[in-house]
Amino acid sequence: MLERIREIQAQAQAELAAIQDPDGLEAWRIKYLGKKGVVTQLLRGLGDLPPADRPRIGQAANQTRQTLETALAARRQALEAARHAAALEAERIDVTLPGRRPRLGQRHIISRTIREICDVFVALGFNVVEGPEVEWDHYNFEMLNIPPDHPARDMWDTMYIGQVGAPMLLRTHTSPVQARYMETQQPPIRVVVPGKCYRYENVDATHEMMFYQIEGLAVDTDITLADLKGVLDTFARALFGPHRRTLFRCDYFPFVEPGVEMAIDCHMCHGRGCRLCKGSGWLEIMGAGMVHPRVLEGVGYDSARYSGFAFGMGPERVAMLKYGIDDIRLFYANDLRFLRQFS
Ligand code: DAH
Repeated sequence: MLERIREIQAQAQAELAAIQDPDGLEAWRIKYLGKKGVVTQLLRGLGDLPPADRPRIGQAANQTRQTLETALAARRQALEAARHAAALEAERIDVTLPGRRPRLGQRHIISRTIREICDVFVALGFNVVEGPEVEWDHYNFEMLNIPPDHPARDMWDTMYIGQVGAPMLLRTHTSPVQARYMETQQPPIRVVVPGKCYRYENVDATHEMMFYQIEGLAVDTDITLADLKGVLDTFARALFGPHRRTLFRCDYFPFVEPGVEMAIDCHMCHGRGCRLCKGSGWLEIMGAGMVHPRVLEGVGYDSARYSGFAFGMGPERVAMLKYGIDDIRLFYANDLRFLRQFS
Protein backbone atom coordinates (compact mmCIF):
# COMPACT_ATOMS: atom_id res chain seq x y z
CA MET A 1 0.00 0.00 0.00
CA LEU A 2 2.78 2.42 0.86
CA GLU A 3 4.38 1.54 -2.44
CA ARG A 4 1.17 2.42 -4.27
CA ILE A 5 0.97 5.79 -2.47
CA ARG A 6 4.48 6.61 -3.48
CA GLU A 7 3.74 5.69 -7.10
CA ILE A 8 0.66 7.89 -7.15
CA GLN A 9 2.66 10.77 -5.76
CA ALA A 10 5.48 10.29 -8.25
CA GLN A 11 3.10 10.11 -11.20
CA ALA A 12 1.12 13.14 -10.04
CA GLN A 13 4.31 15.15 -9.65
CA ALA A 14 5.55 14.15 -13.09
CA GLU A 15 2.24 15.17 -14.68
CA LEU A 16 2.19 18.42 -12.78
CA ALA A 17 5.66 19.37 -13.99
CA ALA A 18 4.49 19.11 -17.60
CA ILE A 19 1.43 21.35 -17.21
CA GLN A 20 1.71 24.78 -18.90
CA ASP A 21 -1.66 26.48 -18.39
CA PRO A 22 -4.34 27.14 -15.74
CA ASP A 23 -6.86 24.77 -17.36
CA GLY A 24 -4.33 21.95 -17.11
CA LEU A 25 -3.73 22.76 -13.46
CA GLU A 26 -7.42 22.61 -12.70
CA ALA A 27 -7.83 19.27 -14.49
CA TRP A 28 -4.89 17.91 -12.55
CA ARG A 29 -6.33 19.16 -9.24
CA ILE A 30 -9.65 17.45 -9.92
CA LYS A 31 -7.92 14.28 -10.97
CA TYR A 32 -5.82 13.97 -7.82
CA LEU A 33 -7.24 16.23 -5.10
CA GLY A 34 -10.86 16.67 -6.15
CA LYS A 35 -13.81 15.14 -4.29
CA LYS A 36 -13.51 11.99 -6.38
CA GLY A 37 -9.79 12.41 -6.93
CA VAL A 38 -7.25 9.65 -6.61
CA VAL A 39 -5.76 10.87 -3.31
CA THR A 40 -9.16 11.64 -1.83
CA GLN A 41 -10.36 8.14 -2.64
CA LEU A 42 -7.21 6.82 -1.04
CA LEU A 43 -7.96 8.58 2.22
CA ARG A 44 -11.58 7.46 2.13
CA GLY A 45 -10.43 3.89 1.73
CA LEU A 46 -8.43 3.98 4.96
CA GLY A 47 -11.42 2.64 6.87
CA ASP A 48 -11.20 -0.65 5.02
CA LEU A 49 -7.66 -1.31 6.27
CA PRO A 50 -6.84 -3.38 9.30
CA PRO A 51 -6.77 -1.00 12.30
CA ALA A 52 -3.07 -1.63 12.93
CA ASP A 53 -2.08 -0.35 9.47
CA ARG A 54 -4.29 2.69 9.53
CA PRO A 55 -1.99 5.20 11.30
CA ARG A 56 1.04 4.52 9.16
CA ILE A 57 -0.76 4.42 5.86
CA GLY A 58 -3.06 7.27 6.82
CA GLN A 59 -0.07 9.40 7.68
CA ALA A 60 1.62 8.59 4.38
CA ALA A 61 -1.54 9.37 2.39
CA ASN A 62 -2.04 12.64 4.23
CA GLN A 63 1.51 13.61 3.58
CA THR A 64 1.11 12.87 -0.10
CA ARG A 65 -2.00 15.04 -0.17
CA GLN A 66 -0.13 17.87 1.50
CA THR A 67 2.89 17.45 -0.76
CA LEU A 68 0.68 17.55 -3.86
CA GLU A 69 -1.26 20.59 -2.61
CA THR A 70 1.99 22.43 -1.98
CA ALA A 71 3.32 21.37 -5.36
CA LEU A 72 0.13 22.58 -7.05
CA ALA A 73 0.41 25.98 -5.39
CA ALA A 74 4.07 26.24 -6.36
CA ARG A 75 3.36 25.24 -9.97
CA ARG A 76 0.50 27.74 -10.16
CA GLN A 77 2.79 30.48 -8.92
CA ALA A 78 5.55 29.52 -11.31
CA LEU A 79 3.18 29.57 -14.29
CA GLU A 80 1.74 32.94 -13.23
CA ALA A 81 5.23 34.38 -12.83
CA ALA A 82 6.24 33.11 -16.26
CA ARG A 83 3.08 34.57 -17.84
CA HIS A 84 3.73 37.90 -16.15
CA ALA A 85 7.34 37.96 -17.26
CA ALA A 86 6.32 37.18 -20.84
CA ALA A 87 3.73 39.99 -20.79
CA LEU A 88 6.29 42.44 -19.45
CA GLU A 89 8.73 41.46 -22.13
CA ALA A 90 6.12 41.78 -24.86
CA GLU A 91 4.94 45.20 -23.69
CA ARG A 92 8.38 46.50 -23.00
CA ILE A 93 8.84 50.19 -23.86
CA ASP A 94 12.25 51.54 -24.62
CA VAL A 95 12.10 54.84 -22.80
CA THR A 96 15.43 55.86 -24.27
CA LEU A 97 13.98 56.07 -27.82
CA PRO A 98 13.28 59.61 -29.05
CA GLY A 99 9.59 60.59 -28.67
CA ARG A 100 7.17 61.21 -31.51
CA ARG A 101 6.84 64.96 -31.85
CA PRO A 102 3.20 66.14 -31.86
CA ARG A 103 2.34 68.22 -34.92
CA LEU A 104 1.87 71.84 -33.85
CA GLY A 105 -0.88 73.86 -35.45
CA GLN A 106 -0.30 77.35 -36.70
CA ARG A 107 -2.30 80.46 -37.36
CA HIS A 108 -4.10 80.62 -40.69
CA ILE A 109 -2.28 82.76 -43.22
CA ILE A 110 -5.18 85.25 -43.35
CA SER A 111 -5.25 85.56 -39.55
CA ARG A 112 -1.52 86.24 -39.66
CA THR A 113 -1.90 88.79 -42.41
CA ILE A 114 -4.66 90.59 -40.48
CA ARG A 115 -2.42 90.75 -37.42
CA GLU A 116 0.51 91.97 -39.45
CA ILE A 117 -1.59 94.74 -40.99
CA CYS A 118 -3.18 95.78 -37.68
CA ASP A 119 0.23 95.82 -35.97
CA VAL A 120 1.46 98.44 -38.44
CA PHE A 121 -1.45 100.73 -37.61
CA VAL A 122 -1.24 100.03 -33.89
CA ALA A 123 2.37 101.23 -34.04
CA LEU A 124 1.02 104.47 -35.57
CA GLY A 125 -1.40 104.98 -32.68
CA PHE A 126 -4.54 103.29 -34.01
CA ASN A 127 -6.78 101.14 -31.84
CA VAL A 128 -8.29 97.85 -33.04
CA VAL A 129 -12.10 97.67 -32.74
CA GLU A 130 -14.77 95.36 -34.11
CA GLY A 131 -18.40 95.45 -35.16
CA PRO A 132 -21.21 93.00 -35.95
CA GLU A 133 -21.28 90.83 -39.07
CA VAL A 134 -25.06 90.86 -39.10
CA GLU A 135 -25.84 94.50 -39.71
CA TRP A 136 -28.66 96.92 -40.31
CA ASP A 137 -29.04 98.40 -43.78
CA HIS A 138 -28.94 101.68 -41.86
CA TYR A 139 -25.25 101.29 -40.93
CA ASN A 140 -24.09 99.29 -43.94
CA PHE A 141 -25.51 101.87 -46.36
CA GLU A 142 -27.52 104.82 -45.12
CA MET A 143 -25.07 106.17 -42.56
CA LEU A 144 -22.40 105.91 -45.28
CA ASN A 145 -24.25 108.30 -47.58
CA ILE A 146 -25.89 105.51 -49.57
CA PRO A 147 -29.67 106.02 -49.30
CA PRO A 148 -32.14 103.37 -50.56
CA ASP A 149 -32.21 103.25 -54.36
CA HIS A 150 -28.83 104.97 -54.61
CA PRO A 151 -27.15 103.51 -57.71
CA ALA A 152 -23.91 102.99 -55.73
CA ARG A 153 -25.62 100.08 -53.95
CA ASP A 154 -24.76 98.08 -57.06
CA MET A 155 -21.12 98.18 -55.88
CA TRP A 156 -22.04 95.66 -53.17
CA ASP A 157 -24.03 92.55 -54.05
CA THR A 158 -25.82 92.17 -50.78
CA MET A 159 -27.17 89.18 -48.88
CA TYR A 160 -30.27 90.44 -47.07
CA ILE A 161 -31.44 88.55 -44.03
CA GLY A 162 -34.91 90.08 -44.07
CA GLN A 163 -37.00 92.74 -42.51
CA VAL A 164 -36.43 92.72 -38.75
CA GLY A 165 -38.33 95.92 -38.07
CA ALA A 166 -35.85 97.43 -40.51
CA PRO A 167 -33.90 95.74 -43.32
CA MET A 168 -31.11 93.53 -41.98
CA LEU A 169 -28.20 92.07 -43.92
CA LEU A 170 -24.78 90.46 -43.75
CA ARG A 171 -22.42 93.42 -43.91
CA THR A 172 -20.82 93.83 -47.32
CA HIS A 173 -17.86 95.76 -45.93
CA THR A 174 -16.40 96.88 -42.59
CA SER A 175 -17.23 100.54 -43.28
CA PRO A 176 -20.44 100.45 -41.15
CA VAL A 177 -18.21 100.24 -38.08
CA GLN A 178 -17.02 103.78 -38.91
CA ALA A 179 -20.51 105.09 -38.20
CA ARG A 180 -21.05 102.82 -35.19
CA TYR A 181 -17.79 103.93 -33.64
CA MET A 182 -18.27 107.66 -34.26
CA GLU A 183 -21.79 107.49 -32.82
CA THR A 184 -20.40 106.61 -29.40
CA GLN A 185 -16.98 108.31 -29.46
CA GLN A 186 -15.74 111.84 -29.90
CA PRO A 187 -12.64 112.88 -31.92
CA PRO A 188 -9.73 112.43 -31.96
CA ILE A 189 -10.38 108.98 -33.46
CA ARG A 190 -7.87 106.54 -34.85
CA VAL A 191 -9.15 102.99 -35.32
CA VAL A 192 -8.66 99.97 -37.54
CA VAL A 193 -11.47 97.43 -37.88
CA PRO A 194 -10.75 93.90 -39.05
CA GLY A 195 -13.69 91.60 -39.72
CA LYS A 196 -15.63 89.25 -41.95
CA CYS A 197 -17.77 90.51 -44.79
CA TYR A 198 -20.21 88.79 -47.11
CA ARG A 199 -21.33 89.36 -50.67
CA TYR A 200 -23.71 87.65 -53.03
CA GLU A 201 -20.95 86.69 -55.47
CA ASN A 202 -20.23 84.19 -58.16
CA VAL A 203 -17.16 82.66 -56.56
CA ASP A 204 -14.09 82.72 -58.80
CA ALA A 205 -10.31 83.17 -58.53
CA THR A 206 -10.67 86.73 -57.21
CA HIS A 207 -14.10 86.68 -55.51
CA GLU A 208 -15.29 84.85 -52.42
CA MET A 209 -18.72 85.24 -50.83
CA MET A 210 -17.05 85.44 -47.42
CA PHE A 211 -13.85 87.39 -46.98
CA TYR A 212 -12.21 89.86 -44.63
CA GLN A 213 -11.72 93.58 -44.73
CA ILE A 214 -9.70 95.93 -42.61
CA GLU A 215 -11.20 99.35 -42.28
CA GLY A 216 -9.31 102.39 -41.08
CA LEU A 217 -10.63 105.69 -39.76
CA ALA A 218 -8.93 108.81 -38.41
CA VAL A 219 -10.94 111.89 -37.43
CA ASP A 220 -9.64 115.04 -35.80
CA THR A 221 -9.31 118.75 -36.42
CA ASP A 222 -7.00 119.50 -39.35
CA ILE A 223 -6.74 116.05 -40.88
CA THR A 224 -5.79 116.31 -44.55
CA LEU A 225 -5.17 114.10 -47.54
CA ALA A 226 -1.45 114.39 -46.74
CA ASP A 227 -2.09 112.54 -43.46
CA LEU A 228 -3.85 109.79 -45.38
CA LYS A 229 -0.94 109.50 -47.82
CA GLY A 230 1.66 109.50 -45.07
CA VAL A 231 -0.08 106.78 -43.08
CA LEU A 232 -0.73 104.58 -46.10
CA ASP A 233 2.82 105.03 -47.41
CA THR A 234 4.11 103.81 -44.05
CA PHE A 235 1.74 100.84 -44.23
CA ALA A 236 2.81 99.92 -47.79
CA ARG A 237 6.49 99.96 -46.89
CA ALA A 238 5.99 97.98 -43.71
CA LEU A 239 4.18 95.21 -45.57
CA PHE A 240 5.77 95.17 -49.01
CA GLY A 241 9.30 96.46 -48.46
CA PRO A 242 10.99 99.75 -47.55
CA HIS A 243 11.45 100.90 -51.16
CA ARG A 244 7.78 100.75 -52.21
CA ARG A 245 6.40 103.74 -54.06
CA THR A 246 2.69 104.48 -53.85
CA LEU A 247 0.26 105.86 -56.38
CA PHE A 248 -3.03 107.54 -55.51
CA ARG A 249 -5.64 107.83 -58.24
CA CYS A 250 -9.15 109.26 -58.11
CA ASP A 251 -11.87 106.75 -57.35
CA TYR A 252 -15.45 106.92 -56.19
CA PHE A 253 -16.93 105.70 -52.91
CA PRO A 254 -20.09 107.41 -51.61
CA PHE A 255 -18.69 107.87 -48.09
CA VAL A 256 -15.51 109.76 -49.05
CA GLU A 257 -14.76 112.95 -50.95
CA PRO A 258 -12.36 112.96 -52.60
CA GLY A 259 -12.09 109.18 -52.95
CA VAL A 260 -8.88 107.48 -54.02
CA GLU A 261 -7.50 104.12 -54.89
CA MET A 262 -4.02 103.35 -53.62
CA ALA A 263 -1.55 101.26 -55.59
CA ILE A 264 2.06 100.25 -54.88
CA ASP A 265 4.76 99.69 -57.45
CA CYS A 266 4.93 95.96 -58.08
CA HIS A 267 7.36 94.38 -55.63
CA MET A 268 7.96 91.44 -57.98
CA CYS A 269 9.19 93.43 -60.99
CA HIS A 270 9.78 96.81 -59.33
CA GLY A 271 7.39 98.46 -61.74
CA ARG A 272 8.77 97.00 -64.97
CA GLY A 273 5.69 94.87 -65.57
CA CYS A 274 5.17 91.18 -64.83
CA ARG A 275 2.55 88.47 -64.37
CA LEU A 276 1.63 89.68 -60.87
CA CYS A 277 0.90 93.29 -61.89
CA LYS A 278 -0.43 92.18 -65.28
CA GLY A 279 2.20 94.25 -67.01
CA SER A 280 1.07 97.56 -65.51
CA GLY A 281 3.82 97.87 -62.91
CA TRP A 282 1.22 98.80 -60.24
CA LEU A 283 -0.76 96.76 -57.74
CA GLU A 284 -4.05 98.15 -56.42
CA ILE A 285 -4.19 97.65 -52.68
CA MET A 286 -7.16 99.53 -51.28
CA GLY A 287 -9.82 102.22 -51.46
CA ALA A 288 -9.55 105.33 -49.33
CA GLY A 289 -10.49 108.98 -49.12
CA MET A 290 -11.45 111.92 -46.96
CA VAL A 291 -14.54 111.14 -44.88
CA HIS A 292 -17.58 112.68 -46.58
CA PRO A 293 -19.01 115.65 -44.63
CA ARG A 294 -22.44 113.94 -44.75
CA VAL A 295 -21.02 110.94 -42.91
CA LEU A 296 -19.58 113.22 -40.22
CA GLU A 297 -22.84 115.17 -39.92
CA GLY A 298 -24.78 111.88 -39.78
CA VAL A 299 -23.11 110.95 -36.49
CA GLY A 300 -23.49 114.49 -35.13
CA TYR A 301 -19.98 115.80 -35.77
CA ASP A 302 -19.46 119.38 -36.91
CA SER A 303 -17.95 118.90 -40.38
CA ALA A 304 -16.67 122.47 -40.36
CA ARG A 305 -14.53 121.63 -37.35
CA TYR A 306 -13.60 118.00 -37.96
CA SER A 307 -12.23 116.16 -40.93
CA GLY A 308 -10.94 112.65 -41.37
CA PHE A 309 -9.64 110.00 -43.67
CA ALA A 310 -10.80 106.44 -44.12
CA PHE A 311 -9.56 103.39 -45.97
CA GLY A 312 -10.56 99.82 -46.55
CA MET A 313 -8.56 96.86 -47.79
CA GLY A 314 -8.88 93.10 -48.21
CA PRO A 315 -6.27 91.03 -46.34
CA GLU A 316 -6.84 88.17 -48.82
CA ARG A 317 -5.77 90.45 -51.64
CA VAL A 318 -2.81 91.70 -49.61
CA ALA A 319 -1.72 88.09 -48.96
CA MET A 320 -2.24 87.12 -52.60
CA LEU A 321 -0.01 89.96 -53.76
CA LYS A 322 2.56 89.41 -51.05
CA TYR A 323 2.95 85.67 -51.64
CA GLY A 324 2.07 85.52 -55.35
CA ILE A 325 -1.11 83.46 -54.85
CA ASP A 326 -3.41 83.54 -57.88
CA ASP A 327 -6.63 82.07 -56.48
CA ILE A 328 -8.49 83.42 -53.43
CA ARG A 329 -10.39 80.12 -53.04
CA LEU A 330 -7.20 78.42 -51.82
CA PHE A 331 -7.42 80.29 -48.51
CA TYR A 332 -10.68 78.71 -47.43
CA ALA A 333 -10.49 75.31 -49.16
CA ASN A 334 -8.45 74.22 -46.09
CA ASP A 335 -6.04 72.02 -47.98
CA LEU A 336 -3.31 71.59 -45.37
CA ARG A 337 -0.64 71.19 -48.07
CA PHE A 338 -1.40 74.75 -49.10
CA LEU A 339 -1.81 76.21 -45.61
CA ARG A 340 1.34 74.61 -44.18
CA GLN A 341 3.50 76.51 -46.64
CA PHE A 342 3.04 79.63 -44.56
CA SER A 343 4.81 78.84 -41.32
N1 DAH B 1 -15.82 99.72 -48.11
C1 DAH B 1 -15.19 99.78 -49.42
C2 DAH B 1 -15.49 98.54 -50.19
O1 DAH B 1 -15.92 97.58 -49.65
C3 DAH B 1 -13.70 100.00 -49.27
C4 DAH B 1 -13.41 101.40 -48.82
C5 DAH B 1 -13.15 102.38 -49.72
C6 DAH B 1 -13.40 101.69 -47.49
C7 DAH B 1 -12.88 103.66 -49.37
C8 DAH B 1 -13.12 103.00 -47.09
C9 DAH B 1 -12.86 103.97 -48.05
O2 DAH B 1 -13.11 103.36 -45.82
O3 DAH B 1 -12.59 105.24 -47.65
O4 DAH B 1 -15.26 98.49 -51.37
